[in-house]
Amino acid sequence: MLKSISLQNFRSYKKAEFNFSGGTTIVIGPNTSGKTNFIEAIFLLSTGKSFRTDKDTQMISFREDLARVKARVGDPSANSGQVTELEVIITNGQIGGKTSQYKKFLVNGVSKRRVDFAENLTAVLFSPEDLEIIVDSPSLRRKFLDSVLEQVDREYRLAVSAYTKALRQRNALLENARETGVRNEKQFEYWDNLVIENGELITKKREEFINFVNNEAKDIFDFVAFYDKSVISKQRLLQYKEAEVASGVTLVGPHRDDFSVSMFNPSTSSGQATTHDIKFYGSRGQQRLTILQLKMLELLFVEKKLGQRPVLILDDIFSELDEGHIKLILEMINLQQTIITTTHKEFIPANVLNKMQVLHFSKEQQKTG
Ligand SMILES: Nc1ncnc2c1ncn2[C@@H]1O[C@H](COP(=O)(O)OP(=O)(O)O)[C@@H](O)[C@H]1O
Ligand SMILES: [Mg+2]
Repeated sequence: MLKSISLQNFRSYKKAEFNFSGGTTIVIGPNTSGKTNFIEAIFLLSTGKSFRTDKDTQMISFREDLARVKARVGDPSANSGQVTELEVIITNGQIGGKTSQYKKFLVNGVSKRRVDFAENLTAVLFSPEDLEIIVDSPSLRRKFLDSVLEQVDREYRLAVSAYTKALRQRNALLENARETGVRNEKQFEYWDNLVIENGELITKKREEFINFVNNEAKDIFDFVAFYDKSVISKQRLLQYKEAEVASGVTLVGPHRDDFSVSMFNPSTSSGQATTHDIKFYGSRGQQRLTILQLKMLELLFVEKKLGQRPVLILDDIFSELDEGHIKLILEMINLQQTIITTTHKEFIPANVLNKMQVLHFSKEQQKTG
């Protein structure tokens, strides 16, 4: 459970500290009052990354050199005072004229690698962007798969990190081969092995999650997921060898993965139930229900893997959903610590709101906390 968080020179925050009661915390504030910045800080403590930028330095307040986010996390059941301190420091690479590390992770003051830092605080985030998972481009669906698996699996985090680096190197070699017309086989061997080894592991774990999704009961909306994997292997790389040199990029592997979801239609006269891709045939409402179901399965997956519920974070999603959808979400907020942001408290029924810890954000207050 997240007990407190403090922000220093993080996005719009100069200095601020917040304590959480446990249960559900709701942040109410107008647009640009720093709600998503606040959520981004929690997500950073959970995963070591931002969910909205690949450029970490964007999280440092304008005109500052260093951002610091700290949190205290602890077991909600134990009143033993067992508390872990998490800290992320981001710099622009220069502190007082000296070069500094861009990103630093600390657990109880001890420096850690990102792969080991993540998992001290697990959180499942639901943001408006997620509502586009089904209809948007494959990259958003891959991002979804990564965010689920990186939460629970150190091996997966290591594989993604190694794969990304190896892919970059391999693409540079391919680009070079494209320009010169010569492919230096010796140079390729090392990177080929790395992308194959790590790529295979990523594929396997993604497949496990898709299977989990298909095997679990779905009481909100029933669908079946199809993993459209881009298999990487020695043989496949051989097969695409010439095309890769022609294009200058790696053409197969999990960076080209996708998945689709299909709903079941009532049996036809032949007695055969048919499935239809929700992206193309689902109504907006059915697409939303599918996302809600998918997010709940994500929570369940994390719980199954780690043996405890992650913190649920809902960033400004109520304005995007209708009453029925909101009701479905409110039914699950009591199952774990939940942090909600919203512009209008009216989205939440008064008797539900009564039981929540309320934080009011304003455009001015965030500067000082
Ligand atoms: N690095 C930064 N330094 C200072 N302010 C920032 C930085 N990045 C974003 N902001 C500011 O944060 C505000 C947006 O905050 P946000 O958390 O997205 O608001 P909302 O409450 O609508 O979710 C904007 O005014 C934006 O200019
Ligand atoms: Mg926002």
